[in-house]
Amino acid sequence: MADILVLYYSRTGAVRQMAQAIARGIDGVPGTSARLRTVPPVSAVCEAVEPAIPDSGAPYAELADLEECIGLAMGSPTRFGNMAAPLKYFLDSTSSLWLKGTLVGKPAALFTSTGTMHGGQESTLLSMMLPLLHHGMVIVGLPYTEPELSSTASGGTLY
Ligand SMILES: Cc1cc2nc3c(=O)[nH]c(=O)nc-3n(C[C@H](O)[C@H](O)[C@H](O)COP(=O)(O)O)c2cc1C
Repeated sequence: MADILVLYYSRTGAVRQMAQAIARGIDGVPGTSARLRTVPPVSAVCEAVEPAIPDSGAPYAELADLEECIGLAMGSPTRFGNMAAPLKYFLDSTSSLWLKGTLVGKPAALFTSTGTMHGGQESTLLSMMLPLLHHGMVIVGLPYTEPELSSTASGGTLY
């Protein structure tokens, strides 16, 4: 069984629901299994330490998750048109993988949730692509042959 990492941050649950739906889709594909992982929030109090295992929900991601999985689906709520800091903070800890080229050639897809229809979905997704491109990952979008892209009234993008 090949694992695909579904890595996300969510504060109020919208991106978590999207991550869970994506994980169900991955689990429905024969031979693949979703590995659902989240990241802890970033605290303004530098001494604060998160418990090693969250009280509820998906476990926190470790670098080994990125190493062991054959692909990545990564989600973040938008924060002023950009990815959320906790996810960026986790990605900033991945330079050892970058030095080894661990993620080169692995496919990656992105997902986001915004509060408003034109609140920066595409810029958020673009911001999430950049570190993955530096890692040499192959970004997978949604082709325009997907009919829902032309009929959605609540968002959705080929990015
Ligand atoms: C600091 C902050 C900045 C935000 N910036 C935007 C924004 O630029 N555009 C937007 O549409 N929503 C914005 N939102 C709303 C969230 O992106 C939106 O509610 C999202 O669905 C939350 O996802 P979650 O439930 O997974 O945490 C912002 C929220 C916060 C707290």
